[in-house]
Amino acid sequence: MVAASFWTLFRQFFPPASKWSFADMPDLTGKVAIVTGGNVGIGKETCKQLLIKGCTVWLAARSQSKAEKAIAELKEETGKEALFLELDLSDLKAVKESAEKFKSLSPTLHMLICNAGVMAPPIEQLTAQGHDLTFGVNVLGHFLFIQKLLPLLKTTSNSLTDTRIVWVASSGQYYFHNLPINYDNLKDTPSRTKLGVQDLYTQSKFITVMLGIYMGKILAEDQDSNVICIHLDPGNIKSDLYRRLPSLLVTIMEWLVLKPTAMGAITQLFAATAPEASQYNGKYLRPWARLGEPHPLTKDETEQKKMWDYCIAVVKGYE
Ligand SMILES: NC(=O)c1ccc[n+]([C@@H]2O[C@H](COP(=O)([O-])OP(=O)(O)OC[C@H]3O[C@@H](n4cnc5c(N)ncnc54)[C@H](OP(=O)(O)O)[C@@H]3O)[C@@H](O)[C@H]2O)c1
Repeated sequence: MVAASFWTLFRQFFPPASKWSFADMPDLTGKVAIVTGGNVGIGKETCKQLLIKGCTVWLAARSQSKAEKAIAELKEETGKEALFLELDLSDLKAVKESAEKFKSLSPTLHMLICNAGVMAPPIEQLTAQGHDLTFGVNVLGHFLFIQKLLPLLKTTSNSLTDTRIVWVASSGQYYFHNLPINYDNLKDTPSRTKLGVQDLYTQSKFITVMLGIYMGKILAEDQDSNVICIHLDPGNIKSDLYRRLPSLLVTIMEWLVLKPTAMGAITQLFAATAPEASQYNGKYLRPWARLGEPHPLTKDETEQKKMWDYCIAVVKGYE
């Protein structure tokens, strides 16, 4: 059962042309951004456009060699050099160390773009702390990274200029149906194995939306700082994300619905940089750079708080 109308899904697969383009991005000289998973795909394109606009870009990746290759290619394309930040989202200890290293190197942070993600890794793969890998990378690792960097985002903001957390979800959240969330499925249990890798992906994106909405509420209540959080679906985009799907299916998808990689950066760059996006704290954006409506059950406040408290408890000790 899909929790979205035919029209919502049709618009997701065939969105109208974007009214916003990279050319609309403001000058970002003096601004600092982190892009997780910046070495490839949508993240790399996001780094490229930020560099073109003069932003200081920290390309966060788990592999130094892949990051260095991407940084060299981006320099070739833009003339600007991104900085490498080592970040393995599948290990909370490594996430803590990465955030602390960043804070020791940069006194400001204007944009935290939580873009990295995995889809359908082998079911036996878990995080260093024993969580489902997809939940661990897409949700928990980013959750801790955000918590660790929030104080810096707060001090960088002021009453005139907000700082932003952009958390990349997916239209996959519409397809998650195993509700209410069974917390056993976040750990290595038989019920998680039964759920299967595709549902574990849609579950992780459903949770991202829940937490994105909840975080927006918490941030809105904080009168002393000006940080906003936007979550979004980047669109159906050609990338390595689909590498574990059957190649014939990927070929058909590329032919029917997948758009060029660069288009995947539109919605997240709009969220991170457009002055008009400052009104979208706690909101879900759909492609391309438009306000969207997430799965209705992501809005359940009791479930949001339960998940928030669960994540806070899990990352305790790494803060
Ligand atoms: N492509 C689409 O159609 C689509 C649709 C909806 C949502 N999304 C979302 O968009 C985001 C970007 O995806 P993409 O399409 O650009 O996919 P991609 O090309 O596969 O890129 C994923 C990025 O995440 C990184 N990553 C994976 N595991 C990590 C870990 N443990 N620690 C740190 N980084 C890790 C990857 O690093 P490695 O290179 O080292 O693996 C890579 O840089 C993801 O959150 C994805 O779920 C994509």
